[in-house]
Amino acid sequence: MSESMGATGLKSLAQVTRFSVTKRTIEYDSQARKSVVCHRGHISQIPDFSKYSPTKSISELAPYVSPTLCAYPLQSKYVNQQHYYQNKDILEKHYLTKKPHPVSLSQLAQYFDDSNTLTKQKIVNSSRFVQQELVTRIAHKIHLLQTLPFNVVNNFHFSQVYESYYNIFERFRRYPTVKTIADNDKFARFLQSILSDFNSLNLPHLIMGALECRILDLYPPQKMDEVISSLLRARISRRLIVEEHLSITANYQSGKKENTLVLGDIFQECSAREFLLGAKAMCEKFIQDMYFQGIKLPEFVIDGNLELKFYFLPLHLKYLLGEVLRNSYEATMKEYIRLGLKNPEPITVTIVSNDQSFMFRISDRAGGIPHDEKTIWSFGKSKQLASESLNNFHKLPGLQTISLYDYMYDRDGGKPTSHPYKFTSLEPVSASNLPHGHKFEKPLLGLLERSSRYKLGIGLAMCKVYAEYWNGDLTVHSINGYGTDTVLKLGNLMYHTDKLQLDKV
Ligand SMILES: Nc1ncnc2c1ncn2[C@@H]1O[C@H](COP(=O)(O)OP(=O)(O)O)[C@@H](O)[C@H]1O
Ligand SMILES: [Mg+2]
Repeated sequence: MSESMGATGLKSLAQVTRFSVTKRTIEYDSQARKSVVCHRGHISQIPDFSKYSPTKSISELAPYVSPTLCAYPLQSKYVNQQHYYQNKDILEKHYLTKKPHPVSLSQLAQYFDDSNTLTKQKIVNSSRFVQQELVTRIAHKIHLLQTLPFNVVNNFHFSQVYESYYNIFERFRRYPTVKTIADNDKFARFLQSILSDFNSLNLPHLIMGALECRILDLYPPQKMDEVISSLLRARISRRLIVEEHLSITANYQSGKKENTLVLGDIFQECSAREFLLGAKAMCEKFIQDMYFQGIKLPEFVIDGNLELKFYFLPLHLKYLLGEVLRNSYEATMKEYIRLGLKNPEPITVTIVSNDQSFMFRISDRAGGIPHDEKTIWSFGKSKQLASESLNNFHKLPGLQTISLYDYMYDRDGGKPTSHPYKFTSLEPVSASNLPHGHKFEKPLLGLLERSSRYKLGIGLAMCKVYAEYWNGDLTVHSINGYGTDTVLKLGNLMYHTDKLQLDKV
């Protein structure tokens, strides 16, 4: 886009300058480049107008430049002159004074009732709970963003997240209380739209925001990791609460009289072996894409409790195993080529389980992890790695052209005409891609299925958040010059059904 802008000049410039920071499609200037060592990509925070129309006079450029220097994003519905007061009167007074309720899985499934019977009242109660809980939870996360330094939350990506959260907050807050089953059917459609519209982009925006802040040194990396982890955990919880309600609504609509602990839909029985084989097939495809079709592949061995089946969120399991195994495959193939070995070294997964948890130990002989073990868990890692990750995020097809403001307020009176990220890596996947046809957390799958060209450098950091969320853990044990054991532990959710604060609100 930047190449074509010289000629089309001002109009494009006006289109991209949505906020006091501009889209990352505008390359930052050479001075900034000096201050950002090694970074060669685009950073949303550093606009550069000068090169796009060097022949135009300042007075001609001014109308296009001035919106970018405004204190408020012009298109924003929420962040404007009144925002401070509205925020104080509504969010702070009425919502931050409430605390999120810690919930257990069985409460989510049955809503504070010992019986499994699904009743009209339960569905209506559940929808009220969802509405109240979501609005409180999102209010607290908005507050968390507000406590960040101005130039952090004003980062293009964070401001997208902020606007999106405020939009969710307002939509939930204003939603009329559900009184009847018919109201609930409408409410369910409303929830579905919230899950699938631009809010799905918050995940990549959060991470890109963190990467930019790392590159520009705007916030201490450790604190940024805490912020991102907390926002991600809260995001998992909110989506879980919503999905849970959609699932019991669907069960009720389909005439089911009961809701079991397994909740019918969200948590499904997963065969450890089947998921591992699925992850292996995906990794092999990545490797073939990266090198060539006929390349020798590592032998893949599954050991231990081969028959293990357990209830889990299929998509989370697919994501976790996929990311971890992908690291082993990539490293193994690199070593195979670097050392000119006859065959790639094998990869062995050992499955272990007891009442309370399940463990997958993924062992490779790919020479170990070449970095400092502490930084591999960070979303920012080093500035150099953050720059590389950010560049790759920008290459994810379609993602770089999406601004929430374009999507929400520009087209067709704010109504999107088609899916905002159709044909991008974040386009919703067809249900058939998923085991058991489940559709939970599509953006996550978009990240997992990125092409091997796009190394994002956040796999381990993300997986740790997800594993810990589910009462588990992720550790790596690397022996330099030999290989790595990556240990993924997951809690047995059926053992922890009554545990409060599973979601660590
Ligand atoms: N099994 C492994 N063997 C060797 N290096 C690994 C292994 N797992 C992870 N790493 C190293 O840790 C880095 C971070 O991994 P990750 O967070 O998954 O991001 P990415 O894979 O996108 O780089 C990888 O780039 C790689 O250098
Ligand atoms: Mg990885």
